[in-house]
Amino acid sequence: MAQSPNSQSAIESILQEQRLFEPPAEFAAAATVSGADQYQALYDKAAADPAAFWAELAEQELHWFKKWDTVLDWQPPFAKWFVGGKINISYNCLDRHLDTPRRDKPALVWEGEPGDSRTLTYAELHAEVCQMANVLKDMGVAKGDRVGIYMPMVPEAAVAMLACARIGAAHTVVFGGFSSEALRDRLNDAEAKVVITADGGFRKDKAMPLKPAVDAALEGNAVPSVTNVLVVQRTKQDVAWTEGRDVWWHDVKPGASTDCAAEPMDSEDLLFILYTSGTTGKPKGVVHTTGGYNLYTHTTFKWTFDIKEDDVYWCTADVGWITGHSYIVYGPLSNGATSVMYEGAPRKSNPGCFWDVVEKYKVTIFYTAPTAIRAFLKMGDQHPNARDLTSLRILGTVGEPINPEAWMWYHKVIGGENCPIIDTWWQTETGGFMITPLPGAIATKPGSATKPFPGILADIVDAEGNPVGANEGGYLVVKHPWPSMMRTVYGDDARFRRTYWEHIPPKDGNYMYFAGDGARKDEDGYFWIMGRTDDVLNVSGHRLGTMEIESALQSHPAVAEAAVVGRKDDLKGEDVFAFVILEGTHSPSDDLKAELKQHVVKEIGAIARPGEIRFAEGLPKTRSGKIIRRFLRNLASGEELVGDATTMEDQSVLEKLRTES
Ligand code: WT7
Repeated sequence: MAQSPNSQSAIESILQEQRLFEPPAEFAAAATVSGADQYQALYDKAAADPAAFWAELAEQELHWFKKWDTVLDWQPPFAKWFVGGKINISYNCLDRHLDTPRRDKPALVWEGEPGDSRTLTYAELHAEVCQMANVLKDMGVAKGDRVGIYMPMVPEAAVAMLACARIGAAHTVVFGGFSSEALRDRLNDAEAKVVITADGGFRKDKAMPLKPAVDAALEGNAVPSVTNVLVVQRTKQDVAWTEGRDVWWHDVKPGASTDCAAEPMDSEDLLFILYTSGTTGKPKGVVHTTGGYNLYTHTTFKWTFDIKEDDVYWCTADVGWITGHSYIVYGPLSNGATSVMYEGAPRKSNPGCFWDVVEKYKVTIFYTAPTAIRAFLKMGDQHPNARDLTSLRILGTVGEPINPEAWMWYHKVIGGENCPIIDTWWQTETGGFMITPLPGAIATKPGSATKPFPGILADIVDAEGNPVGANEGGYLVVKHPWPSMMRTVYGDDARFRRTYWEHIPPKDGNYMYFAGDGARKDEDGYFWIMGRTDDVLNVSGHRLGTMEIESALQSHPAVAEAAVVGRKDDLKGEDVFAFVILEGTHSPSDDLKAELKQHVVKEIGAIARPGEIRFAEGLPKTRSGKIIRRFLRNLASGEELVGDATTMEDQSVLEKLRTES
């Protein structure tokens, strides 16, 4: 059975959930995938021959400079899609729209937090991407090089990604909330040649600096591969300047040509690396390649959001996460859609900020995270009610299981009971939506991500890889490769194998991708995600490894040992709870707690700041010395201990941990 910090409460709330919401009839009639039968037909066709299914779509939906020779080369656990094909995702996102009426259609509509805004049509975006591509070339960036992107939510963040893709350089976007330390590790792992950043960005009514973190990361030649830093001016904050290394975008842009041919890339050439947390202290560089990723994000965006020519689509994620990659930039632009980008975050100074954006741009498709939905729910109905939200026709959610209460609020107050809710289950590793309703085809149940996307052979199995029965909890796996699956961990094939392919043994020679989530399937075949089964936390939809936070704490001189677990949190879903054992000479104090929290912020970033630190004299361990996290989770939540304590080495440890020692 899958174990996770919150699976118990998730199961309870979900079992009471019987409501079913059919797609509105008019909606279904106009949808690209219309009705349960059409979904089933697509699903069955894809399941019978996934490679043929994807090949047909690849031919139909994308531009290829040269067609592939082999659709799928599967040497478990390594998959190659469209082998021999030549393609460029920047071309598919831009150039191919230019000789159509989409040329003058808004590609990116950007709203800054202070209220400034900017719209780039496909033609304008193409020109600007070419300019940045040419600037990168002038800096010596060539096909196969890596470029770091550390940006606020401004159009130039998308421009930078598309510019890299255009010349065949792989990007690695590092979320602007990560610390200089975290940035340095990622730039080094990827051996980035150039970093694209900004002076800062506006967030929660403040100008948050970014350039100083880049300076700190690179200080003392700590990232020897980096030769240049390209800086976008956003906040006009003062910045330190390293002559010869740093270049203002506004200085070089005017002289850069608006023409730059898209480089024909091998379908399997590296498109980007995106770091994500795992169960060790070191984040994994998730590798995505070109052709399969382009096809899968294109198709999932098209069907799941039932995109129409005049839709205005808004995903509130940050480009620093996979959601921003796949569903702000690549999926929408490949489809010629209008993608709204918003710089701000939900904030008390304007509890209606998201709804202002929906009203202003007449957003039709809105995609956000449960943590944001819960934040707005708490702020009250008066804010959305004071805005005109009638343009909305589809609502999406991603990042963590959505509790039925938040789902119903989203459905009623934001959707006016008219908009299908698309609960999309997927991961950095999967590249695109895996389990999700198609809005005109699949009836929804609050809290369920419903059914697999056609071509995705998802199942729930036990530890031996045997399928479990209806409503039985187990491990979520995928039984056939799909085009946008991660190819490996950057520079570490062994870790790729170990993490995703060896937990569940292959059955009859068939390898299964192990997602790390616990789930169950109900009697109607609907998937209910229960949460992580490994030592990974989900804080406000952000993935954090407990080991990463533990090593951050342990790097502080006062800390002898640390253990981090998740504690259920009404707003964030989960919060970071740390048990800390101090070095002999240090004594517990509130000041030290504050200092340790700040230390984690410095080492990783504000998203990892522990909500609570408890000083302890010892940790519950098995006789073989393994920390019993289950007990720590119980203690953090103030619950009774679940399970057997007799394997514990020292029983008195538990008693002391119940209260602050
Ligand atoms: C983990 C992946 C994919 C973009 C956002 C996070 C959890 C994600 C859902 C959902 C329940 C979800 C899973 C997954 N998760 N979406 N709709 N319902 N849980 O990407 O950082 O790679 O995290 O987020 O636990 O494994 P990520």
